[in-house]
Amino acid sequence: MSHNTINYAHRGASGTSPENTMAAFKRAVELGATGIETDVQMSRDGMLVLIHDESLKRTTGSEGMVGTTDYADLSQLDAGAWFGPEFAGERIPLLEELLELGKQHSLTINIELKNGIVRYPGMEEAVIAAVEAHGMEKQVILSSFNHYSMVHCKQLAPNIQTGLLYMEGLYRPWDYAISAAADALHPYYPAAMPEWIAEAKRQGVICNPFTVNDPDVMRQLIKAGAAGIITDYPDRLAALLAEE
Ligand code: G3P
Ligand code: CA
Repeated sequence: MSHNTINYAHRGASGTSPENTMAAFKRAVELGATGIETDVQMSRDGMLVLIHDESLKRTTGSEGMVGTTDYADLSQLDAGAWFGPEFAGERIPLLEELLELGKQHSLTINIELKNGIVRYPGMEEAVIAAVEAHGMEKQVILSSFNHYSMVHCKQLAPNIQTGLLYMEGLYRPWDYAISAAADALHPYYPAAMPEWIAEAKRQGVICNPFTVNDPDVMRQLIKAGAAGIITDYPDRLAALLAEE
């Protein structure tokens, strides 16, 4: 087993805590995560907030959309109670809160820019400025399903890694990644075929599949040479990585 595989907790330890809350991020660290994956969007007044859906409904019960709500109002919402009463009072965090936690625990932070549906003009610049303000250029990987956005980020900050998210099988995906100046491929795990992971690595492109919760699949991906694995259950992956 490789001990270098980064154990990315997907939205924090979202299998056992409310996704994208500080409770979920802190729990991930307790469970052995060495990385955190999160989703960033922008409030109406330009604050970088960590929440997956464009709509506030599922995780806060509130009507409305992230991008048309000011941070002062977003910060009042309860993002924990939907998961269980013990999490009531958890808020929608700011990106900077997670960066501080990441710095404290030497985590790799995988920041997914949620700009496929709502574009959030200026979000790439704002995310990069936050990463630079924390001196975390080497501890962050930016990712998105919007590959134009990742090319833009690479132009803005060549020293920060970028990853391309995608759902289905690509032919010679490393060629595509290289054409977009990306450092990493972030496939939905059934599209991460062991046959090409090693070849991509030889070509200088790493692979971080999502979202892998089955230990047998984790084992196969570690063996194939995945640089990181994104999981809702970082404890399961930590147990495998601890095996000799
Ligand atoms: O970053 C991997 C994964 O989070 C992408 O899908 O919908 O969970 O953000 P989603
Ligand atoms: Ca995500």
